[in-house]
Amino acid sequence: MCGIVGYIGAEQAAPVLLDGLDKLEYRGYDSAGLAVFDGEKIQIAKARGRLKVLREATHGGEKLPGFCGIGHTRWATHGIPSDRNAHPHFNEAESIAVVHNGIIENYLKLKKMLETKGYKFVSETDTEVVAHLLDYYYKGDPLDAIMRMMHRVEGSYALGIIFRDHPGNLYAVRKDSPLIAGQSKTGNLIASDVPAILKYTRDVYFIKNEEIVCLTEDGLSFYNVDGEEIEKEPVTIQWDVSAAEKAGYEHFMLKEIYEQPKAVLDTLNPRIRDGRIEIEELGMTDEEIRAIRKIYIVACGSAYHTGVSAKYVFEGLARIPVEVDLASEFRYRNPILDDGTLLIVVSQSGETADTLAALREAKARGIKTLGIVNVVGSSIARETDKVMYTWAGPEIAVATTKAYSTQLIAEYLLAMKFAQVRGTVSQDEIDEMVNDLKMIPEQIEMLLGQKERIQRFANRYIAAKDIFFIGRGLDYAISLEGSLKLKEISYIHSEAYAAGELKHGTISLIEEGTLVAAVLTQEELYKKMISNMVEVRTRGAFLLAVTNVGNTEVEKAADYVIYIPKTNKYFTNSLAVIPLQLFGYYVAIGKGCDVDKPRNLAKSVTVE
Ligand code: G6P
Repeated sequence: MCGIVGYIGAEQAAPVLLDGLDKLEYRGYDSAGLAVFDGEKIQIAKARGRLKVLREATHGGEKLPGFCGIGHTRWATHGIPSDRNAHPHFNEAESIAVVHNGIIENYLKLKKMLETKGYKFVSETDTEVVAHLLDYYYKGDPLDAIMRMMHRVEGSYALGIIFRDHPGNLYAVRKDSPLIAGQSKTGNLIASDVPAILKYTRDVYFIKNEEIVCLTEDGLSFYNVDGEEIEKEPVTIQWDVSAAEKAGYEHFMLKEIYEQPKAVLDTLNPRIRDGRIEIEELGMTDEEIRAIRKIYIVACGSAYHTGVSAKYVFEGLARIPVEVDLASEFRYRNPILDDGTLLIVVSQSGETADTLAALREAKARGIKTLGIVNVVGSSIARETDKVMYTWAGPEIAVATTKAYSTQLIAEYLLAMKFAQVRGTVSQDEIDEMVNDLKMIPEQIEMLLGQKERIQRFANRYIAAKDIFFIGRGLDYAISLEGSLKLKEISYIHSEAYAAGELKHGTISLIEEGTLVAAVLTQEELYKKMISNMVEVRTRGAFLLAVTNVGNTEVEKAADYVIYIPKTNKYFTNSLAVIPLQLFGYYVAIGKGCDVDKPRNLAKSVTVE
């Protein structure tokens, strides 16, 4: 949520900042702003709307000359999206400029305190408090003012700060919001995320909680919260720069849908050796795996949906009870955690505030934790006891596709490993499953080949009011994801229902022509599903079915059928998701929606 960038060096800062913000726009896009320092005056330009509005208003940054600056792209929390609430924010003397990602939780208290001291606020944001508080504490030493400010503010922040008195320096600090720094050939940079600086460097410093970084044109210095200088080592990012570009695709979402075979392969390959599952990073002895009595899978959004799928897989294969929880619920419900509980947190960004908080809650209570994370070096990756990376590469579109698919793969591998160690499945079954897993990338490729057909079908539904997704068991899990994909990018109301539950209320919403997408890949549930399909069809619904190849019986109950290739019953979500992603994408395209940046959303949700 919100993206920040900063640059100081030999180049004009504004174009570098705009370029960085362009890569961070996925984090928020309701307004953007720049503060550029020419050595005498800090100039601010802000604009409501997408980054291109700011780009045009500043003539690509030309209107703001200077070699040092900070930039921001906003996802509004406090105060409506407007020029006034857009960042950067100034103190009254316009000598301190601040950009912020996060939430200052005690801002009202601080605001009151500052107002009694004569400070005047011009925005409704929590961030403005930081600019005035820094002013209040600033007595000539920026580091000292930042440390004092850190002792007063509660909440989360990644801040980029410039002080007019210190033209050679740019400061940044973080607590519970991501921040990285890096060195380019011409200067030094800070950003919320790697893609913003990948063009300039692959060597990235991950700033930890309560660390401060001071950039000059030539170097970076790091300090702890007590102002003591600390040493940090950069991490080399392996991603290709082009991985964060559209590469000829109309949208990042489509590109990422097409990257799924590779992403799945990259996540799978390093963990299968000579037909055996080896998850080195798991760091658990067989004894420890056998001692697991319960698993919690905690996540948000689509990552949560992979948890719902994984529950069926872990319980079915390894016979370990699994509870799946939304991170925002888990953290406040005092869950029962005891010895023998393993907490698995799943997150693409590794920065989702609720997931991170749930992880910390579990850790504080002495529970073993494992992260399934995509972004290397992210907070969740660093804070879990062990981390299993998904190798999806950078995901830019707000609606996740390839990260989702790789999370499923990581979960299958874990469940199979646990099942193997606990002896709940035979080696022959594992061998067969490994073979099926290896086929998945190719099978995804085959399904992608049906894109035109799915597009034609999707075009019929661009005016739909409601679309329902139904399934049982694992097919219910995939229905949740299919429904979310559709609604988040096309703004069509959609719900996913466990098919057997429909008649307890939702069926009353079915009207003549309502589209119901039924997923039925679980053989033992086919018949039950067909009955549920007939129930809605007789009430006027139009039935789309996603089912396994060969299951022609379904054609009796469906108006349109998409077949997925045969795979192990636990892996069908990996295939069924492909037509559902394409369906959501093409409905949204047909409606002219901005699929990569849907309204009101942001990719990395770093606020509660
Ligand atoms: C946002 C994204 C979703 C994602 C969810 C959890 O809502 O739009 O695509 O599933 O956050 O994010 P995480 O980074 O923790 O997987």
